[in-house]
Amino acid sequence: MKIHYDLIPQETKNIKTKHREVCTPIPHPDTIEIIKDLRFYETDSMHDQLPILWDSAKDYQIFDGYGNCFIDLTSTIFVANIGHSHPKVVQAIENSCKKPLLNNYYYPSRERRDFVKRLIEVTPSYLDKCILYTTGSETTEAAFKTMRQNGRKISKEKIVILSFLGSFHGKTTGSQQLGGKAAGKEWIVNQDKDIYHLPFPTEWYVKESGLSADELFLRDLKELEKLGLVFKNVAGIIMEPYQGWGALFYPQPYIDAMVKWAKENQVLITVDEVQAGFGRTGRLFGFEHYNMEPDLVCMGKAISSSIPLSAILGRGEILNIDPSMNSTHGGNPLACAASLASLNVLIDEKLVEQSFVKGKVLEEELLKWQKEYPELISYISCRGLVAAVFFAKEGSDKLDIELVDELIYRAMLKGVNSVRTLSGTIKFGPPLSIPEDALVEAINVYKECLVEILEEKK
Ligand SMILES: Cc1ncc(COP(=O)(O)O)c(C=O)c1O
Repeated sequence: MKIHYDLIPQETKNIKTKHREVCTPIPHPDTIEIIKDLRFYETDSMHDQLPILWDSAKDYQIFDGYGNCFIDLTSTIFVANIGHSHPKVVQAIENSCKKPLLNNYYYPSRERRDFVKRLIEVTPSYLDKCILYTTGSETTEAAFKTMRQNGRKISKEKIVILSFLGSFHGKTTGSQQLGGKAAGKEWIVNQDKDIYHLPFPTEWYVKESGLSADELFLRDLKELEKLGLVFKNVAGIIMEPYQGWGALFYPQPYIDAMVKWAKENQVLITVDEVQAGFGRTGRLFGFEHYNMEPDLVCMGKAISSSIPLSAILGRGEILNIDPSMNSTHGGNPLACAASLASLNVLIDEKLVEQSFVKGKVLEEELLKWQKEYPELISYISCRGLVAAVFFAKEGSDKLDIELVDELIYRAMLKGVNSVRTLSGTIKFGPPLSIPEDALVEAINVYKECLVEILEEKK
């Protein structure tokens, strides 16, 4: 599999619609030097996405500065939920700059007070404390520490964390170990033996097991006993509301069984909302799809729709456990001002409700597409404005990474920007403000690209 897309400007047909414009070869020849410089100075890890230059981004569109305008289906990897560069967010950042107050460590600031007060107001009332950080990974690290330290208050051996295969909780050493992707972990060598991973209960896994989803949870837990897990030593469970790469949600009975077991065994549950939070799934938070009250909630990405900020929320008696949990840039005033403005826009402009309604349109369109190509599109998962289309290699249940890479590249040439999952799924995560017809137009672009690819293969 190629890491980089080639940097050769491709001839394109001119396109101009209400939502996108393509008027030059893509990537524009004059952007190549900048991208080449970046590739020269930075590592490959910074360059596995589509090679278009982001000169500016507004609402649901990205501009390369040379007249080309792309429909954005990424929200910059689930950040710009309220739309790129929302005027109220820009204004809030400008206000903080003009004061000027650009940083204040964790000395008090009005911006931070206003934001944390609002954040605690919009979440369930039992989540009464928060700590602000900068990245999502820091919040899952903080959850890891908190769950373990809380367990150790009960017994010295109560330190085990359960997570799920296929899950993602960040790329720092602790958060990566919490995550359930084995590839890339060898370097850790002495991995934490007190982190165990349960299989993720996909629809097909539950079906194959012949069990109900609640029975499956208990069965798989028992399987971990064979690997050395001692139930009474479990301190915490960490889960995402959906697994990112495939937008895969849990069956409710599975969650019910897990919550019941956790209560009976004094086990804390952390929900990692870094990707799912702030309206993405048609609810303010992803955990609201399940009948549950998580002990800890991790947030990041769309918290500000812009400048880096993240937060962990929980009950005071749990989150106060470690007085050292703070960081240099957590609670930056610009980020707090932006986050307050973003949260207010999300609520005032009813973007969570819009996510739900547009999600229905998205799902309907994708299901229609699947009907046309049942042998290629093996699965569709969609809730709110997150969706994944699974492309299988013909005659196999292996996912077709190369086909999806080609599809999203061609869509770029027609003015659609996608997330590259490198998993054989097209993933949808547009700003929640995207007009319905732009969403449908983008899907039609993928359809056109698939037809072209299949024609060429004949
Ligand atoms: C569910 C989830 N948790 C944690 C993270 C890590 O966040 P960050 O990249 O801000 O450290 C991500 C990032 O993609 C994520 O999707």
